[in-house]
Amino acid sequence: MLAVHEALQPLPAEAVPPAIEVNHLTKAFYDSEGDRVTVAVSDVSFTVARGEFVCIVGPSGCGKTTVLRILADLEEQLGGTVKLNSATPPAMVFQEASVLPWLTVAENIAFPLSLKGVSRVEQDARVRELLALTGLTDFAKARPHQLSGGMKQRVSVARALVDDRDILLMDEPFGALDEQTRLVLQQELLRIWETTGKTVVFITHSVDEALTLADRVIVMSPRPGTLVANLTVPFERPRDVVEMRRDKRFWDMTYEVWRLLASPVGA
Ligand SMILES: Nc1ncnc2c1ncn2[C@@H]1O[C@H](COP(=O)(O)OP(=O)(O)OP(=O)(O)O)[C@@H](O)[C@H]1O
Ligand SMILES: [Mg+2]
Repeated sequence: MLAVHEALQPLPAEAVPPAIEVNHLTKAFYDSEGDRVTVAVSDVSFTVARGEFVCIVGPSGCGKTTVLRILADLEEQLGGTVKLNSATPPAMVFQEASVLPWLTVAENIAFPLSLKGVSRVEQDARVRELLALTGLTDFAKARPHQLSGGMKQRVSVARALVDDRDILLMDEPFGALDEQTRLVLQQELLRIWETTGKTVVFITHSVDEALTLADRVIVMSPRPGTLVANLTVPFERPRDVVEMRRDKRFWDMTYEVWRLLASPVGA
């Protein structure tokens, strides 16, 4: 048995298991007769460390959403293994805007808590925090039709954060937004991530967005999606999403990722 002082020693870094472990993941979809097969993902392996921000980029239809849905346990893989080392199930922000139109902003954010039967007082306190964090305090009582697209996205992000899950899975959450709103939300997301220390897997079509946000960028090939590269993003934190664009390394790396996307076999 360990002495108390030994048990309290912090684990060496290499002993902390990654938050997410994906090994040789493969997924195919069959049509209802079972004669047409779409191989969406083929032999993808990667890990995500606790507190790490990882972006996945790749062409449309290469299986990015499929990987995320498997991580969220919304889809079953055909082969390989997926392991989440976390006390809570992951929170997911879906590719399509997903706000409930009949609820106010505050009620939308509180929704996961009300499902869990959390007390009203606790719900209100938590929702107030999230409204402030996502800059929506003045719109707490507004309904979704009174919001801009960017504000609706912020509601989705706030809802995903409200019950404090360790892992956040985000599927192109800013994909439908104009460039300016995107920059604002990227900066907000980085601030939220820096304050909360969550593990994030964020899908995007935008190389630029991936390099702005991530510690690491995973590049996938066209369908069936395989892993083309796993790149460390060297920019220091905290990041300023506008100032970063003055850094030559940012454009060199953008070029490098575009080259990988253009020649997916890594030639
Ligand atoms: N439920 C499903 N049934 C059948 N095929 C599916 C299903 N879901 C996804 N697919 C197929 O799997 C492939 C990968 O789809 P997925 O949604 O993961 O791509 P994606 O990389 O997220 O694309 P996009 O960037 O356009 O969102 C596509 O060819 C798609 O047609
Ligand atoms: Mg998708």
